[in-house]
Amino acid sequence: MQREHTLIVSLDVGTYKTAVIVAEVTPEGVEVIGIGTALSQGLRKGQIINVDATVQAIRKAVEEAQLGANCEIHNVCVGITGEHLAGLASQGVVVVKDREVSRADVERVLEVARAIALPSGYEILHVLPQEFLVDGQDRGRDPVGSSGLRLEANVHVIAASSNEIQAVSKCGERAGLHVRSLYFTALAAAEAVLTPEEKELGVALLDVGGGTTGMVAFHHGAVHYTAVLPLGGYHITNDLAAGLRIPIAEAEKIKQRHGCALGDLLTPGEMVEMPRVGGRDPAPVPRRRLSEIIEPRAEEIFTLVRNHLSEAEMLSRLGSGIVLTGGSTIMEGMPELAERVFRLPVRRGAPRYIGGLVDAVNSPMYATGVGLILCEWQQTRANGAPRTREVHRWQRVRDRMVEWIREFF
Ligand SMILES: Nc1ncnc2c1ncn2[C@@H]1O[C@H](COP(=O)(O)OP(=O)(O)OP(=O)(O)O)[C@@H](O)[C@H]1O
Ligand SMILES: [Mg+2]
Repeated sequence: MQREHTLIVSLDVGTYKTAVIVAEVTPEGVEVIGIGTALSQGLRKGQIINVDATVQAIRKAVEEAQLGANCEIHNVCVGITGEHLAGLASQGVVVVKDREVSRADVERVLEVARAIALPSGYEILHVLPQEFLVDGQDRGRDPVGSSGLRLEANVHVIAASSNEIQAVSKCGERAGLHVRSLYFTALAAAEAVLTPEEKELGVALLDVGGGTTGMVAFHHGAVHYTAVLPLGGYHITNDLAAGLRIPIAEAEKIKQRHGCALGDLLTPGEMVEMPRVGGRDPAPVPRRRLSEIIEPRAEEIFTLVRNHLSEAEMLSRLGSGIVLTGGSTIMEGMPELAERVFRLPVRRGAPRYIGGLVDAVNSPMYATGVGLILCEWQQTRANGAPRTREVHRWQRVRDRMVEWIREFF
C-alpha cells in the first residue's frame, strides 16, 4: 500500500496488444519495474468492439505486470486512440488582473480557450498551449511575470468521443482498475521518443500500430496538428494473407520474420520459407514477393499521412523531419520508404527518458506505454494548468450532480 504512492502504472489498450507498464518514481527519474502484455482481441482500428475480450486482455497483462513488479495495481493512466479523435485550434483572451500575468491569469485564459463548440457527443481530452501573447507581444510558452493588460493564448485542443472515452474507462474499471487519467496515445508516444530539439525545430511523430496510425506534429516546441487514420499493420498482414493465400496467423508470422517495406533494399534471389495450409511442407517464396505486397500498403499509409500534413500546412515546418514509432515500424525498410514518400529525414523512435528494465521496453511497440508514464509523471509534478482530462474530477462532478438531483426531488 505504501508503495502505491511511488508507482505510476500505464495501460495501453492497443488493437494488437494490451500492455501494462509499472514504473517507480525515484529521485533520479522514473524506472520501469514490471511489464505485462497480452494480445488484444476486442478492438478494431483502435476502438473497443468487444468489452469482455478487452477486459480479459487487460486482466492478463495486469496479472503479469503485478508478478514482475511484485506489487498490486489499482490506479492506471490509460491511452485512447481511434479515428474519432479530433484536433482543433482555439484561442482565448482575458484581461490581466494586476497588470502582471499570474499563474491564475494563465489558467483563466486556458479555460476561455477550451470553451469551443464541439460536435455533439464529444469532450475535451487535452488543451495544449502553443504560445501566449501579452498586449500583442509573443511571450512564448510561459508568460507568468510579464507586464501588460491583455493576455491571449493560442492552443491546440484534442477532443474525443464521449462513448469511446466511456468504453475505455469501463473496460479498465471492469478489470478492477481505477482509471486516473486518459491521454491520446500518439501524444504519449511523442513524450517517450522525441527530443526537445526535434519538437523545437518541427517534427511529426507517426505511431503506426496494429489498427491505427496516429499523428502528432510539433513546431516551436508545441503541438500544432493531431489526427488518427484507421490503418495500420493489420492491413499489411491482411494483404499478405490474401496475396499469398495463407491464414492470417501465418501471414503475421512471415511478416514479422521476413517482411521488408522497400523491395529495393533486398538482395536479388533471396528466398524465405512460407508456411502452407493443410499440413503441407513449407514452400520457398522470394522475399521480394512479400515486399511487392507490403510496399504498396505501407506507401499508401505514408501518402495519406503526407496529404494530411500537407493540408494542415505542416509539411514545410518539419525541420527535424519524421519520427516513426509503433510496432509496425519495426519492419525493415519502413524509415527508407517513408523518406521516399515524405522527402524528409526519417528515423525510427524507441522509448527513451526512462530507467530500470530498459531492455524490456526498448521497442517502438512500447513507446505509448512508456509515454503514458512520462505524461503522468509530468502531470503530477506540474503545478500549472492540467493538460489532460482527469477522470476522477469528472466523476466527482457527476456524483455531485446526482446528489443535487436527488436533493431536488
Ligand atoms: N517485426 C515486426 N515486423 C513488422 N511488423 C511488426 C513487427 N512486430 C510487430 N509488428 C506489427 O506491429 C503492430 C502492432 O504494433 P503496436 O503494438 O504498436 O500496435 P497497437 O498499439 O496494439 O495498435 P493501435 O495503436 O493501432 O491500436 C502489429 O500489426 C504487428 O503486426
Ligand atoms: Mg498503439
